Amino acid sequence: MTSLSDIRSTFLEYFKRQGHEVVASSPLVPRNDPTLMFTNSGMVQFKNRFTGVESGPYQRATTSQKCVRAGGKHNDLDNVGYTARHHTFFEMLGNFSFGDYFKAEAIPFAWELLTKDFGIDKSKLLTTVYHTDDEAFEMWKKIGVSEDRIIRIATDDNFWRMGPTGPCGPCTEVFYDHGDHIWGGPPGSAEEDGDRFIEIWNVVFMQNEQFEDGTLKPLDMQSIDTGMGLERIGALLQGGHDNYETDLFRALIEASAHATSTDPFGDQNVHHRVIADHLRSTSFLIAEGVLPSNEGRGYVLRRIMRRAMRHAHLLGAQDPVMHRLVPALVREMGAAYPELGQEQKLIEDTLLNEEIRFKTTLDRGLKLLDDALVDVADGADLPGETAFKLYDTYGFPLDLTQDALREKGRGVDTDGFDAAMAEQKAKARAAWSGTGAAADAAIWFDLADTHGATEFLGYETETAEGQLVALVSGTEAAEAAGEGEEVTLIFNQTPFYAESGGQVGDTGTIRTETGEARITDTKKAAGLFLHIATVTSGTITRGQGAELVVDPARRGAIRANHSATHLLHEALREALGDHVAQRGSLNAPDRLRFDFSHTAAMDTSELEQVERDVNRFIQQNTAVTTRIMTPDDARAMGAQALFGEKYGDEVRVVSMGDAPTGKGPDGQTYSIELCGGTHVARTGDIGVFALLSEGASSSGVRRIEALTGQAALDHLRDRDGTLTRVEGLLKSKGSETADRVKALMDERKALTNEVAQLRRELAMSGGGAAAPEAKDVNGVSFMAQVMQGVTGKDLPGMIDDMKGAMGSGAVLLIADADGKVAVAAGVTQDLTDQVSAVDLVRAAVAELGGKGGGGRPDMAQGGAKDVTNAESAIAAAEAVIAG
Ligand code: SER
Repeated sequence: MTSLSDIRSTFLEYFKRQGHEVVASSPLVPRNDPTLMFTNSGMVQFKNRFTGVESGPYQRATTSQKCVRAGGKHNDLDNVGYTARHHTFFEMLGNFSFGDYFKAEAIPFAWELLTKDFGIDKSKLLTTVYHTDDEAFEMWKKIGVSEDRIIRIATDDNFWRMGPTGPCGPCTEVFYDHGDHIWGGPPGSAEEDGDRFIEIWNVVFMQNEQFEDGTLKPLDMQSIDTGMGLERIGALLQGGHDNYETDLFRALIEASAHATSTDPFGDQNVHHRVIADHLRSTSFLIAEGVLPSNEGRGYVLRRIMRRAMRHAHLLGAQDPVMHRLVPALVREMGAAYPELGQEQKLIEDTLLNEEIRFKTTLDRGLKLLDDALVDVADGADLPGETAFKLYDTYGFPLDLTQDALREKGRGVDTDGFDAAMAEQKAKARAAWSGTGAAADAAIWFDLADTHGATEFLGYETETAEGQLVALVSGTEAAEAAGEGEEVTLIFNQTPFYAESGGQVGDTGTIRTETGEARITDTKKAAGLFLHIATVTSGTITRGQGAELVVDPARRGAIRANHSATHLLHEALREALGDHVAQRGSLNAPDRLRFDFSHTAAMDTSELEQVERDVNRFIQQNTAVTTRIMTPDDARAMGAQALFGEKYGDEVRVVSMGDAPTGKGPDGQTYSIELCGGTHVARTGDIGVFALLSEGASSSGVRRIEALTGQAALDHLRDRDGTLTRVEGLLKSKGSETADRVKALMDERKALTNEVAQLRRELAMSGGGAAAPEAKDVNGVSFMAQVMQGVTGKDLPGMIDDMKGAMGSGAVLLIADADGKVAVAAGVTQDLTDQVSAVDLVRAAVAELGGKGGGGRPDMAQGGAKDVTNAESAIAAAEAVIAG
């Protein structure tokens, strides 16, 4: 039997021989098309090559492209399990020409591969062409297909369009006739929907471009885009027409049967089919970083996961099943898609967490559903409110409820469901404006109602395309903005991180076909990401597609700082104790700041330990992982959560570092935090960590500032430069330098004391002049003198010495050095009742052009300006004593 893997390689090899470059599948989340939820055909990655916007190194390519059709425009989810050919995930084989070959080669390529390499019986094949495409008709004829087997189709079935805009063109399709024992008619007939004639290959002649206003313009070059579903051709080549009976699906269905101890066939087969299909789409999406959420792509993922989980439940599975099937998928598809093996752990953990979580409400939800049906008339729809309650309280996506009812031949009143949803939104909004928030918030709610929440792509990419769904100037919606205007831009999806959790908003640029804008900040309101923009050239208009580019260097620095903050938090807990809890943080491009509860200043050894620990885990260079789980599960794993913070019913958990902490699934995780921020892929990406400062922030809260990466290196280099200069001056090296500085400081202190002592002694001895004579004033022995070259701070010591020498008396000294005049007076204790030193100083200061002066009755000081009147100053003091 030819396995799907063999068919895939036969296809790629065939086109490689025909000069095609074998190009890897592009991601499921398209990077170049803001209107597509998921890549849904092989041409998506080449869209801009067909329109000529981009050029490339090859003109012929062949791929096996991962595709998802769930959510968005192409949604096959509801049918999966019940039909032979519907999938949420499939592989599309394709060959592409970019202005190189056209119809004359594409048609023979397809025919040769099908009939020779794949060996399909020619008599079983028939083809269709667009009704006006005589050229293609003639080519099929020339190749040997009889005219009655070339069917002209006038509908859009043979004019392929990507969507409302984009490259498009007429196509020719190849069909396989499974024989008259199966019901169905040829394409274009009334019975075409039957299973007898199955389309196996679509060859599109890309020659037009469709524009939003409906116009269709010819493209400059003519190209080829073909698509063949691997599962479908696989079924055919393996002798059947049921994709789920191919080798790959059989293996997955066997794994599902084994894990649930059930029969792979019979009544249970439908559940296994759902599980096998959904295992593929969910695993591939998770491998690309899409995680379950309640918005956008994450919600589509959740819907698929939960649908599979309900079917596992229907098989009677008591314990989570999906994660146990991942090894079988990796065995089957890991060689062609290495990302499955690389991300196996993330896929398994994410499936397990989601299944554990959903199981807690699944039984109660199903019971509610059964009870509700008792009251609903036979064949009538389930009331919308019940479906909404299942959604809101039990986590049943609407399509899961519909799937459950389908088995009972019933539907859901979807209008009632929408009404209940709208009512809940209105309540949430009323509650929000009731909090007294800014009045301009109303517009964000209106826009969120109309356009839905912005989808954040920035965990995975820093550039992406987005559709500009709204412009807001001030608090008013606008249609367009021209050069120089400041506006807020809202896109359906964005790689820009909006300020939250201490991480600053991203900056960067956006570009549309007609203009460019600089994004100076990104904020969040009502689920929308608000890009604060200044239009730098041209005009940007609502509805346009835009290329959004985050400033990568700035984001890289922010990311490093944010991850380092997590390591710092843990290092602080290790160094200081478990009481350390985050009280605030800032993750900016140039630095990080972390506030934490701790009462005492950290000493040098604590700081050294923290810095060393953070760098140790940076050097460990282990992968940083992200999981989605409930806050309770996260806490049970040892995650740090912000005290008093309200978390939703699910959280992002970021883990890093390998250490025997007892935390995490294997007790080996160093840091586990609830966090919505962006992080490095591996701790080594932080580069290096350097502490800048540690100090008090508020009562009981300390603040650390630190740097990472280049900023840390620059800082360390700067300090090193300073040290080198100091070493040069001191003529010493390394740790000696500190000893030298200490010795110099001690020496300086000793010298300063000595100088002061010498000055005093000099002054006491009259400074070379006659020592002052004590004079009797009103029975008080009074000594006064002007001291040249003595500063104010030397005076108190001198006064004490003089008072000591006199035993009883009053002293007045006027110091004059470097243009500064200072006055001090002293009175021995026995006389302070009679004379106050303060009065003496004040009297003298007034004469010397100064003001005030103060101190105690036994010792006072003051400052003045000019020493010229020293005699009168002394006389004024004398007069005070004289009374
Ligand atoms: N784009 C075409 C399709 O999806 C052929 O690849 O069918």
